[in-house]
Amino acid sequence: MSHLKINHQYVNIAQQEYDAYLQKSLGALQSLHNKTGKGNDFIGWVEYIKELDDALVADVLAEAKKIQETSNVLLVIGIGGSYLGTKSALEALLPPFDNESKLKNKNGLRVYFIGHQMSANYIEALLNHIKDDECFVNVISKSGTTTEPAVAFRLVKAFMQKKYGDAYCDRIIATTDKARGALKTFADQKQIKSYVIPDDVGGRYSVFTPVGLLPIAASGVDVKSLIEGALKAYEDTRAEDLAANPALHYAALRNYLYDNGYKTEILVNYDPALNYLSEWWKQLYGESEGKEGKGILPHAMSFTTDLHSLGQYVQEGERTLFETVIDVKHVDSQLTVDLDDENLDGLNYLAGKTISDINSTAMLATILAHTEGGVPNIVLEMDKLDAFHLGYCYYFFMKACAVSGYMLGVNPFDQPGVEAYKKNMFGLLGKPGYEASGAELNKKIVK
Ligand code: PA5
Repeated sequence: MSHLKINHQYVNIAQQEYDAYLQKSLGALQSLHNKTGKGNDFIGWVEYIKELDDALVADVLAEAKKIQETSNVLLVIGIGGSYLGTKSALEALLPPFDNESKLKNKNGLRVYFIGHQMSANYIEALLNHIKDDECFVNVISKSGTTTEPAVAFRLVKAFMQKKYGDAYCDRIIATTDKARGALKTFADQKQIKSYVIPDDVGGRYSVFTPVGLLPIAASGVDVKSLIEGALKAYEDTRAEDLAANPALHYAALRNYLYDNGYKTEILVNYDPALNYLSEWWKQLYGESEGKEGKGILPHAMSFTTDLHSLGQYVQEGERTLFETVIDVKHVDSQLTVDLDDENLDGLNYLAGKTISDINSTAMLATILAHTEGGVPNIVLEMDKLDAFHLGYCYYFFMKACAVSGYMLGVNPFDQPGVEAYKKNMFGLLGKPGYEASGAELNKKIVK
């Protein structure tokens, strides 16, 4: 049985049409498996999880333990696919306020992210915040040349050098390409521990490589369960049985909706612990599908919070939206609304209900309202939010994204559009080799 059920009862699709789209998604899946689709030199991630080397996992776990034993802060430097998998896993699986409580109790490893934007205030405040801690650094960049993490790493390197002298190199692990890039050069010259991101695994498909596994393991998450969940999804999404493969259903439904004028997909959660899963998903689908003037715009909302800000738009705004709702079936917390003799707030009608029951009812009420308002809802039913199911979810979304991109007719594994801003930035910042474009760009700036 699949660990993720795709419920399409809130999408108004005739069975015949659904079957036709499922057939198309099957064709796309076969192209992926037969390596006949676009970008097939970047599909190493499909089998990577199956072929994941036990020795590599053991090595990652040993390094994670070393980090935990020697440090109380781990700085993860990376952007896009080099940080979103880790950030989303930590947010989903660690208790809320994890860093804060470890700070208070002075034990356990706190994890901070840097190099995923260039806010001077953030970087300065973070380095100041951890100045008295024992720090370890995992710098992650497939290309090894991305500006944001490279700039952050230069600052962090100086910070570490000041703190640990020449021994700072023992407190850095680089995760990067096997041969190319400035980060690889640094790792080789300083002989620091490094992990390889395989050539045929793109950043946004790399969460099960050491890109994600090392920092996730160091944070204390059970990566073996995460891998087990992904392996289960690997099996389920290999199936060419239309009834059994959830990736085929998700890809079929979203392409059907896109073809029928629904251009924006909102990934909806009812627990902010999933907000960064949404950010990871947005990168995965946005970079994979948004090209050649095509693609669903991936958007995300967290309910019920956003029902009080964007709910109005969803209910009555432009009718080009559909929602994909993550419905987590079992929640551990049994926090309950008690009976109150005074009942001044009038809430005794809720007495005896758990907060999760009320949240689930809010979800049902919202699905009914939004579908009534003309917003189709795909519901992804997930048993619970743990490492196994999250691992399942990552792999499922990656496989469905590849299938969906092929159905759309694009190469889901490149991101040519990301280069445009980078080239402009290099020109404007005066990077050697970009002088001419810099001069042209400066003329265009309205002063
Ligand atoms: O999916 C991708 O490949 C990109 O979004 C990258 O993850 C992102 O640009 C970061 O690149 P790098 O890991 O090379 O620093």
